[in-house]
Amino acid sequence: MTAVLSPGLLAAGDPTLATHLAVHGPLRPPAPDAVADLAAAHGLTGRGGAGFPVAVKLRAVAGAAHAGRRRAVVVGNGAEGEPAAHKDAVLLARAPHLVLDGLQLVAAATGADDAVLAVPGPVVAVLERHLAERADPVPVRLVAVPDRFLAGEESALVSVVDGGPPLPRSKRPPVRERGVAGRPSLVQNVETLARLALLARGDRRAAAGVLVTRHAAGLPVDVADVPLTARLDAVLPLATGVQAVLVGGYHGSWLTVGTAAGVTLEPAELAGVGAALGAGVLAALPEDRCGLVETARVVGHLAEQSAGRCGPCLNGLPRIAAALQALARPGPPHPGLLADLGRWCGLVVGRGACSHPDGSVRLVASALRVFEPELAVHASGCCRARPGTAPFLPLGSGA
Ligand SMILES: Cc1cc2nc3c(=O)[nH]c(=O)nc-3n(C[C@H](O)[C@H](O)[C@H](O)COP(=O)(O)O)c2cc1C
Ligand code: SF4
Repeated sequence: MTAVLSPGLLAAGDPTLATHLAVHGPLRPPAPDAVADLAAAHGLTGRGGAGFPVAVKLRAVAGAAHAGRRRAVVVGNGAEGEPAAHKDAVLLARAPHLVLDGLQLVAAATGADDAVLAVPGPVVAVLERHLAERADPVPVRLVAVPDRFLAGEESALVSVVDGGPPLPRSKRPPVRERGVAGRPSLVQNVETLARLALLARGDRRAAAGVLVTRHAAGLPVDVADVPLTARLDAVLPLATGVQAVLVGGYHGSWLTVGTAAGVTLEPAELAGVGAALGAGVLAALPEDRCGLVETARVVGHLAEQSAGRCGPCLNGLPRIAAALQALARPGPPHPGLLADLGRWCGLVVGRGACSHPDGSVRLVASALRVFEPELAVHASGCCRARPGTAPFLPLGSGA
């Protein structure tokens, strides 16, 4: 794919410590107090989905640890439960030492004496070998995370680290106050940690880039490190044969090609068109697929993956998924189904213990906007999807 790319995070050709040091040089850590200042000065935000300022979280966890006279725990989040995202997997495979450097930086900044790197099970053995090459001041524990959409949500991840199920818990008390083993905990996405490690080496561009997983028909799915100032149509080919663009992933938003082609990846610009980078997924839906069918399939998966603990997931998401599946089938829908769907979507927003229902409904709402003309096509008994084509959006292992 043609794009405005900078090697940045993925610059090292192989993941060994020797190559890491040759490409990036040794890490000369700033004073612990200066790490949050560094993140603040460069406006570094989290790359796990919510885009929260790193400095604010570092200071909050350090403050909670100080106030409670308990040592903090830091957790690198490499769970990547989003089936369409591969950026964290590629980062851990290509530049594990940047992630591990970042983990040490946040451990120093929060005064933590326990550092955890939580990753999919198959990666643990590989990372064990990379860890063995290092002499880190704060020992790092590797924890295997199950392959579930929700496992990377921060309270679910804390539960996994503590030996529990991969399920979110209520937001109170927050993880920053009571997380791993009841201690103040910082959960930070692995890309965020790697960007911090580059910033600490004086690479000022590190905070202004993002790893994206790109999906486009006829091209291999790939991961690229792109500047936030890049235009979306320079990162993803949109000129011909594309019907709509999914930005952010399965908690993200569909955009029309016209809208997508007019924006850069800057968070404020994406917010202006109702989108966010989320898990860094960019997918160009080809003309011969149906956006309603693709979305219905994904929302069915999201409903299945929910913990079903809170009302919105227990009652709301399965109904929403079933309604979307009915609208995606050719033929006139049940009268009032579209209105019911809109009402159910409104009812779940803001009501879950985590933002899974909100994210799922965001995707549904954007699909109903962007694929509105398809609703009439389906009601008349047709569908634009070419018969026999495989689904475009992946649902992960076995789905
Ligand atoms: C349903 C759900 C799934 C999530 N999955 C992930 C994930 O796989 N990896 C991740 O880094 N963050 C994930 N997050 C975001 C985390 O809760 C948390 O905000 C993030 O790890 C913090 O790191 P950051 O500030 O560096 O982005 C998820 C959030 C939700 C609501
Ligand atoms: S909102 Fe859904 S996914 Fe989140 S904690 Fe409640 S039941 Fe689980």
